[in-house]
Amino acid sequence: MLPPSLSFAVLALGTAVYAKASFHAALQDIHIYARQQDGNATGPSTVLLADLATGGAVTPSGEIIRSILQNTAPATVDNSIVYTRPAAVANRGQGGLDSVACRQDTCCVWSYIVAPMNTSVTVPDFAQDGSVGSGGADGSLLLSAGELQRSENRGMGNYADLMLSWRNAFSRYAPGLTVADLIQVGATVATVTCPGGPRIRTFVGRPDVDGRIPPPAQHLLPSPDSSAATILELFAAKTFSATDVVALAGAHTVSHQYVTEPRYAGAPQDTTDGVFDSRFYAETEAAVPPAGIYSFQSDKQLSTDAATQSLWSQYAQPDAQTKWAEEYATAYFRLSLLGVQKLNGLTDCSGVLPLAKPVP
Ligand code: HEM
Ligand SMILES: *[C@@H]1O[C@H](CO)[C@@H](O)[C@H](O)[C@H]1NC(C)=O
Ligand SMILES: *[C@@H]1O[C@H](CO)[C@@H](O)[C@H](O)[C@H]1NC(C)=O
Repeated sequence: MLPPSLSFAVLALGTAVYAKASFHAALQDIHIYARQQDGNATGPSTVLLADLATGGAVTPSGEIIRSILQNTAPATVDNSIVYTRPAAVANRGQGGLDSVACRQDTCCVWSYIVAPMNTSVTVPDFAQDGSVGSGGADGSLLLSAGELQRSENRGMGNYADLMLSWRNAFSRYAPGLTVADLIQVGATVATVTCPGGPRIRTFVGRPDVDGRIPPPAQHLLPSPDSSAATILELFAAKTFSATDVVALAGAHTVSHQYVTEPRYAGAPQDTTDGVFDSRFYAETEAAVPPAGIYSFQSDKQLSTDAATQSLWSQYAQPDAQTKWAEEYATAYFRLSLLGVQKLNGLTDCSGVLPLAKPVP
């Protein structure tokens, strides 16, 4: 089996309102959001993003993305969706990469890139700032000076090297290849390589940030000792509902901690290492956790706080896998698009993903 690490960046949910405007503006944002939540506080967020919010869906991609963001279509694709390379490319095997036919088909180069990703670990960039339209899934993690050196991104240097090596290997076949897309495709590939991992719909076409502009605001990440309220606020400012937050926290089903508690360096957050299952929820909320796991205080808080406890315990039910994986995919899909301005212009390359495998 693959290395278990789906090895994400620790989530970076910066918000400009904290960094750049007054505290009052921040409060106002949260209140507006709270009003929007009335009546649907426990479902996935249905808030539209970027050009879909301002001008609507005007392309087939925009239409699919809109329906997923509004939770009227699933964020997953089943194993019957498989990309096939153009015939002129397919005939040439690995050599097909360097062909006109491949260059003319946006997903073609990705069908080659996923092969090394399928056998490696990857890391997406979540630092994002929707309120001012900077940051987000824009590659800044690797492109902006100093972002990778931040404490919240500790331990990601290897993944960064991997991403940049893929960019170096493949960009001559696809001049528009961006680090922002590599990070996000890496994340969805990594997720589906774990047994139980949803096959999350995957679009490409994110522009990279200009590496010369300063990196996104710092100190805006939830930390392992943040309260549930703080975590919910940070996510809410990025359009996530409480359901989304609780679902996303389930990524810790495949994580390990190293720096949070050095005495237990390497400890996983549930007992089924490398399996993308919902067991994490029951084990995190247990009064007496199983031996060998380390639970983050932030997850413990989410499992007990009045605002999230019932959501958490739904995912802790023995039969919650399907529901959780679907809701995780929906929330992750939103995360993967934050900060991208032209959602109508993206291309669906979901068919290049490895096939999903059930929980053993
Ligand atoms: C709710 C707020 C979150 C907090 C406070 C948080 C906190 C943390 C912490 C403290 C670590 C371990 C760092 C270490 O000690 O080495 C970690 C690891 C990890 N987190 Fe989160 N996290 C959050 C949300 C997320 C989300 C939304 C995802 C993915 C969708 C995610 C995916 C991961 C993964 C995959 C790892 C393991 C990284 C590795 O093994 O290299 N986390 N998180
Ligand atoms: C909740 O529902 C309202 C009304 O349908 C909608 O305007 C709002 O965007 C929704 N909020 C979220 C977070 O889904
Ligand atoms: C990913 O790896 C698995 C196991 O080695 C292999 O069966 C599968 O074909 C690979 N998928 C892709 C898309 O590379």
